[in-house]
Amino acid sequence: MKVEQLFTGCLAEMAYYIESNGEVAIVDPLRETEPYIRMAEADGAKIKYVFLTHFHADFVSGQYDLAQKTGAKIVFGPNATAEYDIYNGKDGEEFPLGGGKLTLLHTPGHTMESSSYLITDEEGKSPYVLTGDALFIGDVGRPDLAVKQGTLTEKDLAGYLFDSLRNKIMTLPDDIIVYPNHGAGSACGKNMSSETFDTLGNQKKTNYALRADMTKEEFIDEVTTGLKPPPQYFPNNVRMNKSVNTSIDDVLHKGTTPIHPETFKEMSEQKDILVIDTRSKEAYAEEGTIPGAWYIGVDGSFAPWVGALVTNINQKIIFIGDEARINEIVTRFSRVGYDNTLGYLEGGITNWRSHGFEVDKIGSISAAKFTEMLADGSMEKPVDVRKETEYLSEHVKGVENFPLDFIHSNFAEIDPSKEYFLHCASGYRSLIAASIFKANGVENVTDVRGGFTDLKETKAPLTEYVCPTTLL
Ligand SMILES: [Fe+2]
Repeated sequence: MKVEQLFTGCLAEMAYYIESNGEVAIVDPLRETEPYIRMAEADGAKIKYVFLTHFHADFVSGQYDLAQKTGAKIVFGPNATAEYDIYNGKDGEEFPLGGGKLTLLHTPGHTMESSSYLITDEEGKSPYVLTGDALFIGDVGRPDLAVKQGTLTEKDLAGYLFDSLRNKIMTLPDDIIVYPNHGAGSACGKNMSSETFDTLGNQKKTNYALRADMTKEEFIDEVTTGLKPPPQYFPNNVRMNKSVNTSIDDVLHKGTTPIHPETFKEMSEQKDILVIDTRSKEAYAEEGTIPGAWYIGVDGSFAPWVGALVTNINQKIIFIGDEARINEIVTRFSRVGYDNTLGYLEGGITNWRSHGFEVDKIGSISAAKFTEMLADGSMEKPVDVRKETEYLSEHVKGVENFPLDFIHSNFAEIDPSKEYFLHCASGYRSLIAASIFKANGVENVTDVRGGFTDLKETKAPLTEYVCPTTLL
């Protein structure tokens, strides 16, 4: 039996490809279908099942399109309902695959339909368990996403999760490999390790949520404490995962349309069209961009930032991007449900300029210059756009926190007549924030190159967070 973990860094997501004697199961596929179909073809195998551990909130999964193309059966756990045909597996139900099988273990808690899958190979051994968002490496799935007003609270869901882990997962042998659905960087948990798998035995020793002496009350308290509001696109992705959406082929067809600079200019001036510049930080900063464009570079946590910042999931989007990567960029928009990409700037910024159209540039200073200006008092509004937790752990004295995650809801605090100097950790998020400041009418905005990483190398005065408990 072949079991492959397919890791996608941008979403910190793990899909799985399992093959035995010519039959394939795909677990938690991303929106695109071709990679899975190609893998099965290379093995001379047929995709028999698409298993879902749950309805994902942080990406749109591709089970419907994949089933349409391959004839595979879509399997969810108990309680799942969708607008398309699914098979609801029961707790303990076995699904034969070639010479082996997958056994569904109903593990509610993150959501009520959440299920794990125990993989058994041709020799009857069970070396892996796919735990979805029930158990991560170093963490467990957040229990607040599937709260149902009036019936289920996050504490109820955390209680289910405690029972699922104790009764269904922790009873498996210690040497079994835990294969979760997410790794560090995902907003589906709060404390995930950067490892993508581990033995159950090691997780019992190191994962706070699996402590042997933990009571149910302690578990509920710990997993529900410190949860930040989920990104705004999460409910939209859950809804899309229960629905039939525009097929990925149609999304790709429309989104990869080249748009001539003159048409692109007209479109960029329409109020209902958003321009996103997806190029590298360097290309964006050095060559400039189209007036009003947002910056969200494809070489970063692209899809989660699109999801967090573009508030309308049906937003019409045109983009600037590396022409060798247009297909990839449209795919990555659609992975989080942004299916209304209308095309890209043909010939890029060079072609735009050659038509005589103006470009806009974000100001830029080095970390050393920032520290110098801060010291001599010549800086009007120094701002740190990292998350509050990062800011509290350590920041430059005299710099305010204005997290990128909440830029829209807090924008009323920004005074467009002032000059802002933005930094993040390394320069990705600050460029996104700077572009949105500019698009919203803040004329004087400057990015601090290299962010906090570089600032620490200067003589910038730093504060350190003191944990409140140590003050008692
Ligand atoms: Fe999830």
